[in-house]
Order: sequence, then structure tokens, then C-alpha cells
Amino acid sequence: MTRKPMVGGNWKMNLDHAACQELAADVDRGRALLEGPCDIVFFPPHPYLRSVASHRGGCMLGAQDVSGHEAGAHTGDVSASMLVDCGCQMALVGHSERRHGHGETSREVAAKAAAALNAGLRVLLCVGETSEERAEGKTAEIVCGQFVESLTGIDFDALERIDLAYEPVWAIGTGQTASPEQAQEVHELLRAEVGSRYDARSAARMRILYGGSVTPSNAAELMACSDIDGALVGGASLEAGPFLEIVRAAART
Ligand code: PGA
Repeated sequence: MTRKPMVGGNWKMNLDHAACQELAADVDRGRALLEGPCDIVFFPPHPYLRSVASHRGGCMLGAQDVSGHEAGAHTGDVSASMLVDCGCQMALVGHSERRHGHGETSREVAAKAAAALNAGLRVLLCVGETSEERAEGKTAEIVCGQFVESLTGIDFDALERIDLAYEPVWAIGTGQTASPEQAQEVHELLRAEVGSRYDARSAARMRILYGGSVTPSNAAELMACSDIDGALVGGASLEAGPFLEIVRAAART
């Protein structure tokens, strides 16, 4: 089964209103030169979602986080329906900067995923091990555990609106990318886990992106791996030129 690749730009807590609009418009213009199909999704900071919504063109808009609650007394939270209202099609859940920086558990991630799916959004679920967990040989246990727990209670029917991202914590923002072999190995086992939890068709359809220090210089060899279906890009997504080079690498595969 061929899976349409997807490349996400996770802008984290960077840029401002004007820079977000300019970046989105520049990337959208670059789509015209792609050699194949590829979904592009922008994850701007929450205050700039609407700014990007009007400049995204044919690219998708996603939120970096979403509340697990529907509405009410949750100071600082942003609900899934608010994100839909701002023009979002997708929400990122389980990013390691949320899991480790804010102590989010997979149970909380599951509530966020459910809230996003219930509001009609797609979900990009991130999983990944720390360097200590890898050194202890626990990579498979951690990433499969996060995958299963973060989707607890999610309906089988919603699975087609879920994409995964394998993001080894030790590779995020460090310049230390996983080798194509390391990444492919984990993507393959995640796909097998989707197959055993759900079914073979779902496993074959599931997009699994790689994230962690993806740059124009390493994108092509990562994207060439059979189970890598795109990239979630942080640092290299903040300028249109390098980001589009990564998109082009994904679109060629
Ligand atoms: P990075 O971030 O590309 O800067 O390593 C990736 C991510 O956090 O999604």
C-alpha cells in the first residue's frame, strides 16, 4: 500500500505574527515544485493559528497541543473545538517536550487525542524513548507502550485520522539524528504493533513520521526507508528554504 507522505513544521515557541504568515505563504508557494504528493502541516504557536489559517493555502494547519477537556474552568487550556474554530485540521499530542517538560502521562495524552478526534481533528501522536531507555534496551517497550496507552479508548473507526511520529527524545533539537537503520527498525516495530493491536490493513495504512534533528542533509536517506512516511521537523522548519528541501525529499519517495 502506498502512503501519502506528510511533513510537519513544528514551530514550537518561535516566530511572531508576521513571520508565521510569511513562512506559511512561502512554503505554500514551494508546493508547486514538488515532484510527488506530500501533505504539509504547520504547527504554529496557538496565538498565531488564525494568522496562519489565512496564509496556509493548500497546506494543513495543526495545533502543538490540545486540552483533554471539552470546555470549562481550565485556565490556560485550549479546547479542540476552539482549534477547529481557528481553522485547524490537526492536533499534535504526546510531544516529548510536553511529556517530559510538562510531565504529561500517556493517560493524559489519550484524553487529548480523544478530545481532538471527537471534535473532528486528525491527530499526530508522538512517541519516543530517552537515551537512557535506549541504552537499557527498552526502546521497543517504551515506544509501543506509549503508542498503546496514548490511544486507550480510541475507537477503531478513528484510526484512519491518526498519524504517528517516532521522535527519539535524544535526537530532538540535539543535532544527533537517528541513523536511517535505527529509525527504520523502530518504525517497523511500531507498524507491527499497529497490526497486532488493530489489523494488518490499519498497519499498512498508518503513516509513521520520523522526527529529531531532520535537516536537508539527512532527509533523503531517512525518507528512503520503507516504513518512514515523512518527517516532523522543528529547527529546520523555521525557514522556508530548508523546510521545502525536506518536503521535496519526502515527496520524491
Ligand atoms: P528538531 O525538533 O527537528 O528541532 O529536532 C523536532 C520536533 O521536536 O518535533
